[in-house]
Amino acid sequence: MAIQSLESVAKAMVAPGKGILAADESTGTIERRLAGIKVANTEENRRAYRDLLFSAKDLGQYISGVILYDETIRQKSADGTPFVELLAKNGILPGIKVDTGAKDLAFCPGEKMTEGLDNLAKRCAEYRKMGARFAKWRAVITIGADAPTSTCIAANAHALARYAAICQEAGLVPIVEPEVLMDGNHIVHRCEEVTEWTLNAVYEALYLNRVVLERSALKPSMVLSGKDCPEQADVEEVAERTVRVLKRCVPAAVAGIVFLSGGQSDELATEHLNAMNRKYAGELPWPLSFSYGRALQQPALKAWKGSPANVATAQAALLHRARMNGLACAGRYSGELERQALAA
Ligand code: 13P
Repeated sequence: MAIQSLESVAKAMVAPGKGILAADESTGTIERRLAGIKVANTEENRRAYRDLLFSAKDLGQYISGVILYDETIRQKSADGTPFVELLAKNGILPGIKVDTGAKDLAFCPGEKMTEGLDNLAKRCAEYRKMGARFAKWRAVITIGADAPTSTCIAANAHALARYAAICQEAGLVPIVEPEVLMDGNHIVHRCEEVTEWTLNAVYEALYLNRVVLERSALKPSMVLSGKDCPEQADVEEVAERTVRVLKRCVPAAVAGIVFLSGGQSDELATEHLNAMNRKYAGELPWPLSFSYGRALQQPALKAWKGSPANVATAQAALLHRARMNGLACAGRYSGELERQALAA
């Protein structure tokens, strides 16, 4: 791949009609996903599953980049082609998760602090050499009776900003991911308030750490009602509240916004993205796209069930979700398209 400037990489990540496939589950997280289809969590099964995803024909039509995990970036396709090369051949940018996970935050029961700054410059340099062009770091913010605390927000915003600066210096575009979790019974207004607080803290920290916003992307959660809240905000309300917060907090210079799905069903994640683009795209300074993990992979994982005989069906399921989300980037998705695909 030709050497590209960080601005052009960041722009390519949010090219019209395209988004990112998050396939960077750690070995522990992928174990839970594989257990769901009764497949053992062996290195070969993890490799075969990622091979299925990355070799899906035409994936590059809807997917601009794939986020890999440390083990995955070192693995190869069945024919011996390194995954990084396979992706690049399909016009897909390889990315890498560089945080080392969210750990308990001292003195703040129930809250987490993402670790991974140790040796980060060295690891980024290695990943850049291996072909990675962008990176991801996920911070998690919990909503609860006494949470979030300002301690948690400040610590995570600082770490995200240090990470982003180190990435840019090493030649990687940082995806800045502050996820406000949907766990809990809070009403949607509380999520909006916490998201606004978090994003303000994150952009202040990015400024203090000299991060160049044009060379970065934001990966936020949407403004949703708590999972256990009896009163669930509908699609239009989620779109309205999410866009309002983003407009208040995210500088226009940011290259693009790629949402996480965070446990939403695959179709709902697509509907939310579509509603935002259908209604508001014309008034926004950045493209709104996706960087989904579960919402892109779930149907493919279920179809695969660990059997080579199901690879083509699983790839078709992945491609379908990628196409639906690609359409949602332009506000051109509809439930009718899901029914048509089912009937086909
Ligand atoms: P989900 O879309 O499943 O939330 O995963 C995206 C991701 O990369 C979380 O860090």
